[in-house]
Amino acid sequence: MNQLNGKTVLITGGNGGMGAATARRLAAIGAHVAVHYRSKPEIAHALVTEIIQAGGKAKAFNAELSDVTQVRSLFAAVDSQMGGIDIVVHTAAMGIFKPHADITDNEFETVISNNIRAGFYVLQEAARRVRNGGRIITLSVAGTVSPVAMAGLNNGSRAAIDQMILSLSKELGSKNVTANVLALGLIDTEQLLRTVPEFLRTQVISQTPLARMGHPNEVAGTIAFLVGPDGGFITGQVIRLTGGLI
Ligand SMILES: NC(=O)c1ccc[n+]([C@@H]2O[C@H](COP(=O)([O-])OP(=O)(O)OC[C@H]3O[C@@H](n4cnc5c(N)ncnc54)[C@H](OP(=O)(O)O)[C@@H]3O)[C@@H](O)[C@H]2O)c1
Repeated sequence: MNQLNGKTVLITGGNGGMGAATARRLAAIGAHVAVHYRSKPEIAHALVTEIIQAGGKAKAFNAELSDVTQVRSLFAAVDSQMGGIDIVVHTAAMGIFKPHADITDNEFETVISNNIRAGFYVLQEAARRVRNGGRIITLSVAGTVSPVAMAGLNNGSRAAIDQMILSLSKELGSKNVTANVLALGLIDTEQLLRTVPEFLRTQVISQTPLARMGHPNEVAGTIAFLVGPDGGFITGQVIRLTGGLI
């Protein structure tokens, strides 16, 4: 099924765990995929090669998203080189899990830069450039409504972007553009293992009815539904992918 034939999608953090899974899934249903990356160009280029060898269309683009000039250049390059932008999936962000009292000034600035500043610039360009009938999705965390210890700065920075995209859904409805948040529980990626301490993962899994982490392909599948024709009446929603965790 080529539900996304003729659609161009920009995936920020496209060489990350969930970004790459989403790139593969959307390319497999016909989308032309712009794989954004910041570092590790070899992963982004290998992913593009893999998609092309499987019969899809993809191209890699580099940008630091906390730099407004680079974000504007990225969107302009995707727009001109891929013939427009229909879908933006913003996965790029960072996680930090520390007691509030121990967070350094430098860590605070890094989270503000990578999560809030970058998210603001991406959503602003998405609002300007996504074509009529398009889709915008951001990845967030279930913890914005189900707080856990050591995650206040992380979750607060995501909540800021949640509010921006939910407001955008009101502004862009007249263009038939949908805008939604996917609020994630634990998803089994390398980033999770690197940033969330094991005791916290065990604690969250023990409170999760499905008693496991999610898989990046389950996130990619949900995104494929939301950006496809069947997702066209869903907008302004925070959709929770948590294995039942309230
Ligand atoms: N895994 C989970 O359980 C879970 C749960 C809730 C939410 N999330 C969120 O879901 C998203 C995807 O997670 P993931 O596991 O796929 O993460 P990941 O593998 O770490 O991928 C994140 C990507 O974002 C990029 N990035 C971050 N800040 C950037 C910036 N300022 N400019 C450009 N690129 C930037 C990273 O680039 P670099 O490689 O250069 O750093 C990386 O490619 C993240 O926002 C994560 O916080 C994850």
